[in-house]
Amino acid sequence: MADNLFDTADRALDTVVAGLGRLHRDAEGVGETLERLGEQARPRDVPPTPQQDPACRHLTVGLASARQVDSALAEALAALAPLLHWQRIPEHVPHPPDPFMDDYAFAKIFGPQGVYPGEDFMMGLFIIGPRQFYPTHLHQAPELYWLFSGPTEWRFGEEAPWETKPPGALHWNRPYHPHAMRTGDVPFFALWAWTRDIDGDYSIVGAEGAVPLNRQG
Ligand SMILES: [Fe+2]
Repeated sequence: MADNLFDTADRALDTVVAGLGRLHRDAEGVGETLERLGEQARPRDVPPTPQQDPACRHLTVGLASARQVDSALAEALAALAPLLHWQRIPEHVPHPPDPFMDDYAFAKIFGPQGVYPGEDFMMGLFIIGPRQFYPTHLHQAPELYWLFSGPTEWRFGEEAPWETKPPGALHWNRPYHPHAMRTGDVPFFALWAWTRDIDGDYSIVGAEGAVPLNRQG
């Protein structure tokens, strides 16, 4: 069972490396992400316990969208997703706009409770249901997002205009760069990575999260 998990994760990581190299080789952050990924040990001794989350119900739609971006990657992630430890953490969004907390989840391939422990490095899958709002936040860790579904909207500051990102887009958050995301009719499904300083600062900016977007009409 564990070997299946590790083999499946390794196949998925191979498709991540191939896809990023083929589609986004020169994009900001890709070089660092691939370099840090390549430095990571892959001990096969402590497999995570598979765990599903209510938000995993959005994976079917997210994976279907991912097939349009990179079919090989989508197939590999479809095999891996049920084996992962999907979770949410209350500290992630201290004052979450209800019902955000019931409609988002992430699973680590690298990092605590991930397939592999990670060495100051986290990488995983992230899903947010339709009509949700992830409030503006910032963190010390540089962050890569490879979006497999969408469109989703992003803004980089509480007063900044919303920008639309299509499926397949890549986004790199430099350290302490504020960012927020919101979904429309399609779930947000992405590969996500923190390439270093994973125990560094993390904070929610302002109070905008107090009002859920999907209740503003
Ligand atoms: Fe972030």
